[in-house]
Parts: sequence; C-alpha cells; structure tokens
Amino acid sequence: MKERVPLISVKNICKSFGTVKACNNINLEIYEGEIHTLLGENGAGKSTLINILSGVYMADRGSITLMGEEIKLSSPKDSIKYGIGTIYQHFKLVDAMTARENIILGQKISFRKMRDVDLKIAELCSKYGIELELDKHVEDMSVGEKQNLEILKVLFRGAKVLILDEPTTVFTPQETEKLFNIMRKMKKAGCAVIFISHKMDEVMKISDRITVLRKGETVKTLIKNETNPKELTELMVGAAIDLSIKKVDAKIGRQILKISNLKVNDDDGTNVIKDISFSVREGEILGIAGIAGSGQRELCEAIAGVRGVKHGEIVFDGEHLEGKNPREFIKRGISLGFIPEDRLGMGLIGTMDMVDNLLLKSYQTEDGILINRKPLAKKALELVKKLDIKTPGINYPIKNLSGGNIQKILLGRELGLKPRLLIMAYPVRGLDITRVILFTI
Ligand SMILES: Nc1ncnc2c1ncn2[C@@H]1O[C@H](COP(=O)(O)OP(=O)(O)O)[C@@H](O)[C@H]1O
Ligand SMILES: [Mg+2]
Repeated sequence: MKERVPLISVKNICKSFGTVKACNNINLEIYEGEIHTLLGENGAGKSTLINILSGVYMADRGSITLMGEEIKLSSPKDSIKYGIGTIYQHFKLVDAMTARENIILGQKISFRKMRDVDLKIAELCSKYGIELELDKHVEDMSVGEKQNLEILKVLFRGAKVLILDEPTTVFTPQETEKLFNIMRKMKKAGCAVIFISHKMDEVMKISDRITVLRKGETVKTLIKNETNPKELTELMVGAAIDLSIKKVDAKIGRQILKISNLKVNDDDGTNVIKDISFSVREGEILGIAGIAGSGQRELCEAIAGVRGVKHGEIVFDGEHLEGKNPREFIKRGISLGFIPEDRLGMGLIGTMDMVDNLLLKSYQTEDGILINRKPLAKKALELVKKLDIKTPGINYPIKNLSGGNIQKILLGRELGLKPRLLIMAYPVRGLDITRVILFTI
C-alpha cells in the first residue's frame, strides 16, 4: 500500500517570546479527512502554533510541509494561499458590514461577478450545511452566526484546512452541535480540521486523533478510540491525576438564603428574572443550570447587591438584602462572597494592583483616615505563593495578567474571606486542571 502523505506536517517548530519557549520542537501531522484536536492546558503553546500555521508569527526554527513540499508562511496571505483557514478566538469581522461584504472584503470582484459570488456562497452553504443570511449586518448577529460567517469566509477563499481555536467557549450546546455538523461535513469532503479545545467531552466526541501539548512540547498523538479522558488529562498535566470528586458529608443546617418572587431587569431594562423563588441551607450547594443569557448573570448580581431588584425579596440570615449595595453588606458584616462572570468590571479593578483589589473587599472600617495596607500586602504575597499566581509583583496592575491568574486573585480573595454564602459564576474558567482540583479540596 502506498504510504499516505500528510496534508500538513509540522517539524521541530520552535518559537520563543523573550525567555518563554512557547513552542519547543513541536511535531504534528495532519491528514486529509481528519478532525485533529490540539489539547493542552493554558499556556501549552496551542495558540502560538496556530499563529505560526496561519502566518501571523514566524517560527524561530523548524519547517512546515504541505503535501510533502516545504512551504514558507510569512504572512496570513501566504497561509490562505496554501488553503489554511483560521478562525480565531476573537472574530475578525467588520460589524457595520453585511455577511456578503465581509466575505468578499479585500478581494477584487467586479460588480458583474457579484451574481457568481452569491452562487458560490450558496453552493458552499449547502455543501457544508451552513445557514447564513447574506444581507444581515454582523452587528445584528449572534456568536453562532458570526462564526458561521468566519467559516464561510475562509471556505470562500478555498481553505482545505480549517483551524478553530477554542471555538465553543461561548456557545450553547445547540450552537456547538451545529458547528460539529459543519466540521463533520468538511471532513467528509476531504478537508482537515484542527480543533483546539480543553473541554474533554467535546474532544472525545468530535476528534479522530488528538495531539497533547505540554509546556510548548508535543507529548503524544493518540487515536481517539484508543484513549480516554483520564489518560489524556495525565498527559496534559504530566502527572497522575485523580479526577474523581469526593463529596464531603456536610451537615445540612438551617436556611441561610431565601429568595421570594424575584424580578430583575437586564441592562436594557428587559425583565429577565420573572418570578423566581428558592432557598439555600447551610451545607448545601445549589446548582443553577441554563444556557448563557437565561438570566443567571442578573440573578447572581442581584443577590450580590450589584444590580437593582424590581420586585421580590432576598433574605440572607434574616436580613433583607434588596436595596443594599456591597459596601453596606461589608459595613453590616453580611458575609457574602461573589465570583462574577466578568472578573474585571464586576469583581476586580484592572488598573489597580493586587493589594488594592484585596482592599476592595476588606472588612477594615473606613472611619480611620489611614487604611493599613500592610496586612493586605502580606495576604497578597501569601496568595501569590499558595495559588502560584504568575505576576511581576503584588503592586502590578492586574489587568496585564493572563485570565487564569486574574481568576486566581478573585477566587483567592473571595474564598479567603470564608464567606457564609458564596455565589460563583463559572468559577474555574481559565484555570488549569491541577489548580481546579486544588480549589475543590
Ligand atoms: N505575544 C506573546 N508575547 C509574549 N508571550 C506570549 C505571547 N503569546 C504567547 N505567549 C506565551 O507563550 C506561552 C504559550 O501561550 P499560548 O500559545 O497562548 O498557549 P495556549 O494557547 O496553549 O493557552 C504562554 O506562556 C504565553 O504567556
Ligand atoms: Mg490559546
């Protein structure tokens, strides 16, 4: 049998940023008709590799071949020319333009040829099962529609390899399923898909093969059907990991929070929490499920005192919270922790350093004119050590840190206060598996 030539072959690719070796001898082979997942913890080098494949970064060393021929990718244009189409984590569409205008942007197409463009788009849509309204403006589109447009844009330019960097982060399960159907159709048509994700269930569902990256190195390439989440996790982390969660036997105590007939509006004044009642007892974890945008954000914010309540009651340990703000909570000793969805904005202040961010939730009174930063500086240093927060220093503006490190500061502060009630929205977002396990202990 003739040996199959990989569509793309990446050999010993290296790329450093200063002293950080983002990619250190990466090797990868992508074949036609496969969905190949890149799996790795935050900082493993996945996005850097993708940026090299799409011509955004130049590799320091190593080579890339396409069907056995070495190619040089010096710009995104080169990469598109070779049929590599990348969908980035942050879409690169022009909001004020329609779908059609975005697709043809930057291409010389005469007015007479516009009909052909529409025909070609229609053909691609039916071939890959993509739904899109060509005259819709990007600003009116949902994230799912925007992604469809990005995919169509690269297919229009003739992509044979589709690279998707963490495409499902903000997706509903339905949107994810639609994307997977498009990926399956691409695979059937003989294209290759490089999929980046750290959601294990998705990786197990859609991949044909999986390459694990760790600290800029390729650890192993595995066939999906011959591996399992435990093996993959251990390869990602580089150590044996116990993924089982031991639930502690907590004694269920008295009722600590009672919500009655709550009504809350969103930022546009639309009533999103319509009439919600529930209660939570001591020793209990109450899960709130729902696709993004179902009102969970507004519910959390209302309980945490950062969003007004239109109607109803929020009673915490006998005390009414509605109408009170977080400052009053602190003054009254209401012990409530909050890990919001948007860590910068609601939770932390990006331009401030760690110490000042700890101060925001400090129980020191403001009566004295001098606020003592010393104990908080000590606490900040403890957190840096305990949670392995990567920062140049505790007096460094936190907005310059990576999302995972900012999340650690937020979690460290809120958990450190040992609140009686803790409200958490996506608390482990951006954290490594090892860190998540540490937090659950
Ligand atoms: N433009 C850059 N400048 C400096 N360091 C970077 C840059 N891009 C990535 N890095 C560093 O390279 C490493 C790998 O990052 P990245 O490729 O984004 O990882 P992943 O996508 O797997 O989370 C990280 O330590 C990151 O901080
Ligand atoms: Mg990345």
